[in-house]
Amino acid sequence: MKISVLVTGGAGYIGSHTCIALAEAGFTPIILDNYGNSSPKVMERLARITGQAAPLAIEGDVRDRALLDRLFAEHEIGAVIHFAGLKAVGDSVADPLSYYDNNVYGSLVLAAAMRSAGVRTLIFSSSATVYGEPDESPIPEDAPTRPANPYGRSKLMVEEAYGDLGRSEPGWRIALLRYFNPVGAHESGLIGEHPQGKPNNLMPFVSQVAVGQRPHLTVHGGDYPTPDGTGVRDYVHVMDLAEGHVAALRHALAHEGLLTLNLGTGRGGSVLDVVAAFERACGKSVPRVIGPRRPGDVPAYWADPSAAKAVLGWEARRSLDQMCADSWRWQSGNPNGY
Ligand code: NAD
Ligand code: UFG
Repeated sequence: MKISVLVTGGAGYIGSHTCIALAEAGFTPIILDNYGNSSPKVMERLARITGQAAPLAIEGDVRDRALLDRLFAEHEIGAVIHFAGLKAVGDSVADPLSYYDNNVYGSLVLAAAMRSAGVRTLIFSSSATVYGEPDESPIPEDAPTRPANPYGRSKLMVEEAYGDLGRSEPGWRIALLRYFNPVGAHESGLIGEHPQGKPNNLMPFVSQVAVGQRPHLTVHGGDYPTPDGTGVRDYVHVMDLAEGHVAALRHALAHEGLLTLNLGTGRGGSVLDVVAAFERACGKSVPRVIGPRRPGDVPAYWADPSAAKAVLGWEARRSLDQMCADSWRWQSGNPNGY
């Protein structure tokens, strides 16, 4: 029998791509999303991509305990993948309470409802931001955690709460997945990332410049101690990430206990590497100007992804060129999103 997986935030960027990987792996995703940063229109796209019925989608909030209790009572849910949350670092500094409310309180309400319902398999979206400014790269999972903003602290608080929960009683199967920089889109070009307003992140900004919606990219700093002076990150294709969730889910369903894993490629790419790869993908030049450093940015970091490979048998397969080609297919086909 197919196992149903509750996917909170499943209409969002990473969640929607993970729903495809889940469906292709024989799971049945059930989405819970408040559409605060997404659109229900994604469901029809998911059906087109998978050739299966659109996932059951419930509009609602992870902080709504009564709704969660109803969901667990009405559906036979075997596991939960918890993406729902807020993710803009700058907003978290301006409005920390809404970050602690959505990300921390929401995660606690969800875990309490799971415990009552007897569902104890949980995959959680954490972030490399929990490492703050690392001492060295590649970063292994046992590197010190010292997040530098409320968003990062909200992720670390949930990791700690879920860790304590996992150790408090037998039966829990919890994977805390620390993503590096997810980019790209499904290769169909039918789903992708569509930030509201001016993008904060590099790849959506570059895409909007390439499609003509913005005049140029501002490179935040050209004087870092990196090979070309620009910031270096570990960009990982969102479909590789999606497959990482399926691998983590399969592992959790088969093994009790707590896992903390990096999901990244193990390779660093600079801002100018991304721009060059994007230019190859779209066949146009991407105008850019070098501006000052962005406050709070770390010069360079990338993952040590060896634990994910050893434990899950997962590793990222897609190249930076493929990430850019797929972003471009999505952006050029859907310049205004869904
Ligand atoms: P996203 O905003 O596209 O997706 C999050 C989804 O959750 C959205 O559909 C939103 O409407 C929904 N949501 C938010 N709060 C909710 C609530 N209280 N109840 C129900 N639904 C709610 O973001 P994403 O990039 O897909 O990120 C997914 C998760 O991965 C987040 O937890 C994020 O913090 C984490 N993460 C993202 C990145 C990244 O760079 N994209 C990096 C590391 C970690
Ligand atoms: N950058 C620019 N110009 C832009 C946007 C970004 O030069 O317009 C540069 C940044 O300075 C950095 C690189 O591109 O060197 C990547 O920046 P992003 O904003 O795309 O990503 P960050 O690494 O800053 O942060 C992202 C997410 C965080 C998450 C973190 C995890 O935004 O939420 O990855 O590693 F926590």
